[in-house]
Amino acid sequence: MSILFLSPTGQMGGAEAALHEMIAGLRDAHPSWSLGVVVGSDGPLVERIKTLGARVEVLPFPPALAKLGDWSVDGAGSLIALLARCAVAVGPAFIYLRQLRRVLRASAPDVIHTNGLKMHLLGAWAAPKGTPVVWHFHDFAAGRRLTSRLLRRSASRCAAVIANSRSVAQDARYVCGDATSVYPVWNAVDLARFAPTGSRADLDALAQLPPASPDVVRVGLVATFARWKGHETFLEALSLLPSSVPVRGYIIGGPLYETAGSQVASRHLRERAQVLGLGSRVGFTGFVADSAAAIRSLDIVVHASTDPEPFGLVIAEAMACGRAVVASRGGGAIEVTEACAGSVTHMPGDARGLADRIEELATDPDLRARLGEAGRETAERCFTRARMAVELTPIYQGLAHVH
Ligand code: GLC
Repeated sequence: MSILFLSPTGQMGGAEAALHEMIAGLRDAHPSWSLGVVVGSDGPLVERIKTLGARVEVLPFPPALAKLGDWSVDGAGSLIALLARCAVAVGPAFIYLRQLRRVLRASAPDVIHTNGLKMHLLGAWAAPKGTPVVWHFHDFAAGRRLTSRLLRRSASRCAAVIANSRSVAQDARYVCGDATSVYPVWNAVDLARFAPTGSRADLDALAQLPPASPDVVRVGLVATFARWKGHETFLEALSLLPSSVPVRGYIIGGPLYETAGSQVASRHLRERAQVLGLGSRVGFTGFVADSAAAIRSLDIVVHASTDPEPFGLVIAEAMACGRAVVASRGGGAIEVTEACAGSVTHMPGDARGLADRIEELATDPDLRARLGEAGRETAERCFTRARMAVELTPIYQGLAHVH
């Protein structure tokens, strides 16, 4: 069996971390399978995939294509701006399609597995006739006007969809139509790297803050700077905590993707923290490459997405690190948190609710310890690479056999 994975980016976001674990799981389960990856931009993913022993080729997106995305479409004005960006990207996209077609022909895989929107479309259009294309959905698409239309129009070229949660699977069925087979498969986490013990990041130094006093409970939001990750809800929740609760908050992460308009500016968040009078109660560490070390240096990991979270890899990673988690109740994150006994949640965007949950955990070290243990147990049961490989194998085998 040979599988070629197509990733739009070489940067390490959630979908790319999930791809890495998926390839690691398949390599362990099937050493004889040939696994290769084509990425649309260079980045840390490339080296990490090579370390797994898989082939990687960087086929860079032209800049106009890299910037394209409909995240920012919320009104007529921005729709026109998006259409203008599309118009500029059409020519380069065709050139790219030709290059990709050549790469796909040369590598002649049994299955093409695409890991992000642009690659879903490009992969479907560039795949040699008869080669099944699997779309791996990591995000909801139905609410994105242009995206969902394009996917629906190309769905006949897609042999199957893998979705990172049942919630995303439902959305994918709606977008792609009943003719497409959709398989929910949860992500895996590297349980050796995301473990309760190991190196810790010096978050105070990274945030350029004086060291916090020893009794301080560290609470952090670990996320990309996508607009819907709830940074402002987290800041507001911190501002609502009584000053008697010894807490320091950390915003861990930074802008990662090239897609225009999809991310919140770090300057904006700092201004917001200032307006809320947070002072040294919050620190901004910027992007931390070793996210496991960042998570381990926290006592409470906050997930605060204001939109339904497709899966919420960071929730699973924090569980694997044995940390107490407060998650926002929406989308696949509900499935992930419910897998863990006694999980703690708040409603998306509810800063008051989040502040209350943080306070309960910050003032109860035993509760944090119990949740941490339950989290690790959940991760070892639900988020192994082996489980992911077991679920994916029959999907690939069925497709390669049929076509
Ligand atoms: C995307 C989703 C996130 C998920 C990740 C891995 O980044 O937004 O919820 O955890 O992909 O599937």
